Amino acid sequence: MPAGGTVIRLAEPRDALACAALTIQDDRECGASIEPGFLDRYAQAWLADQDRVTFVAVAADGRPLGLVTAAVVTKLPSSRRPRSRWLHVSLLFVTPDARGAGLGTQLIEALRQWAAAHDVSRIQLHAAPQARGLYERAGFTAPSAGLMEWRTDTT
Ligand SMILES: CC(C)(COP(=O)(O)OP(=O)(O)OC[C@H]1O[C@@H](n2cnc3c(N)ncnc32)[C@H](O)[C@@H]1OP(=O)(O)O)[C@@H](O)C(=O)NCCC(=O)NCCS
Repeated sequence: MPAGGTVIRLAEPRDALACAALTIQDDRECGASIEPGFLDRYAQAWLADQDRVTFVAVAADGRPLGLVTAAVVTKLPSSRRPRSRWLHVSLLFVTPDARGAGLGTQLIEALRQWAAAHDVSRIQLHAAPQARGLYERAGFTAPSAGLMEWRTDTT
């Protein structure tokens, strides 16, 4: 359980390596082996990505406990609809020792508040089965039956 004093805040450039380390923990938990140099490669790509919003949960002693990171997608101008942007969440992760204390919920809430304040009309993500309850409580619903995708690995 995280001790008191944990802060949820918008990630800054100084958080690049922490975000990389949290991503590595998630990948490891999913059984992936991490290639040498991945930490730096991730941090550089994250720093270079101007269309991304990331919140981190940081313990009072500075230890990173979790993150949510999302790509900001801007729609092209349309004569039929107002200009709008949406978020695609690529990762929500909380370290195992900090789970169950509300940090995942707080990270999603911080993202929702950012979206409301930045002309972002929609947040989309692929929910892991174990996280569906968390998202539903935060107001997420299943997308329309009209949503389709094509993947190279299905042909
Ligand atoms: C999902 C996750 C971010 C939740 O973080 P958290 O700080 O424990 O979240 P909260 O305390 O706000 O809420 C806990 C909820 O997460 C669920 N949860 C999912 N996996 C969990 C785990 N391994 N340990 C504890 N809770 C987990 C709990 O069941 C609970 O939901 P419930 O009340 O419906 O049972 C965290 O468990 C995690 O990082 N899991 C591994 C990565 C992952 O699954 N990410 C989501 C991908 S869509």
